[in-house]
Amino acid sequence: MGPGPMDIHPRVYQALTSPVIGHLDPSYLEAIDRVGVLLQETFQTANKVTNATPGTGTSGMEACVANLLEPGDKALICVHGYFGDRIRQMAERQDAEVTVLEGAWGKPTDPEAVAQALSTGEFKVVGLIHAETSTGVLQPLSDISKLARDHGAMILLDTVTSLGGVELKVDEWGIDVAYSCSQKCIGAPPGMAPVTFSDRAMRSVENRKHAVRSWYLDIGLLNKYWGSERVYHHTSSSTMNYALLEALELIDEEGLDERFERHLKNHRALVVGIEGMGLEMLVEPEFRLPTLNTVLIPDGVDDATLRGFLLQEYNLEIGGGLGALKGKVWRVGLMGYSSLSENVIFFLSALDRALAKQGHRSDIEVGLTAAAEVLNG
Ligand SMILES: Cc1ncc(COP(=O)(O)O)c(C=O)c1O
Repeated sequence: MGPGPMDIHPRVYQALTSPVIGHLDPSYLEAIDRVGVLLQETFQTANKVTNATPGTGTSGMEACVANLLEPGDKALICVHGYFGDRIRQMAERQDAEVTVLEGAWGKPTDPEAVAQALSTGEFKVVGLIHAETSTGVLQPLSDISKLARDHGAMILLDTVTSLGGVELKVDEWGIDVAYSCSQKCIGAPPGMAPVTFSDRAMRSVENRKHAVRSWYLDIGLLNKYWGSERVYHHTSSSTMNYALLEALELIDEEGLDERFERHLKNHRALVVGIEGMGLEMLVEPEFRLPTLNTVLIPDGVDDATLRGFLLQEYNLEIGGGLGALKGKVWRVGLMGYSSLSENVIFFLSALDRALAKQGHRSDIEVGLTAAAEVLNG
């Protein structure tokens, strides 16, 4: 129950044992097409260029940044956690002219600050994180995407901890490019990075003055393999793609709305459980991310000792804080196949034992009763 990778469904394990076949085998190409269609459904987009790049979420990030930005392009990057800063670093490596909009960790980016920053220049791209895994903040997007649209800038969105777990409407929200990973809410192993590029984004790539600096992640070249031309680009991993495909089929069978509802309910149960126990969440209720919950570490409790105890005694992994939040929060993931009511109850009970071990008393009965009420409601 950390920030990922999460447990995977037995059917996804089964898919990992599929025979290894060639990347141009007709039946494999059908599977790649199906991955594209199911990713369109999951991203809620009609973008033709939608598939999965090889590599983890960071490869999706690099694909989006390296294709949209070239030397001298102006990019506004919103940073209110660890991963926004990674986009900034990548944009700077493209020799883009980067303006960083710094926000407080644990809060979303403020649309007014975006408006103010946009008024200072002509930006090609606004980059931001939908679900900041380091802080547990879910970024509201409608205001910022309207501001970017009115400005003429493209939105580059990290959906690593939101795709398949919380509502994400790429077309309706006017997102130009987005990327994610396979190992969180999608429910597959790490190793694939779903990406989607709008027609507008593809036109911008086609009109670049310089070739994309990453050959491997050049979206034009990748699309010649994903699209009808079927030009060899790299030895696509059938093992990873069949696992991703099975995970996407599971999402399709569950239904997106039902899936979001499941994630939300388990998150709500966890929050009332935590608060019932007398602990506090980092993030204000309206910006809490259902898939990644940040719990404030109570005074006097040793972070590493507690997480070590959970792992040793209960085989339960939770995440520690990153960057500015190191030692201040625990990060509890409820994503994909692992977003289960029994995991909520198990976590609260195990946490109570781990706190007691350090002499910290929590009101576990109140917490469990409150959680059960949500889960049974
Ligand atoms: C929001 C966010 N973006 C990017 C990444 C990088 O993904 P990966 O570790 O799969 O490369 C992560 C990883 O947890 C993340 O949480």
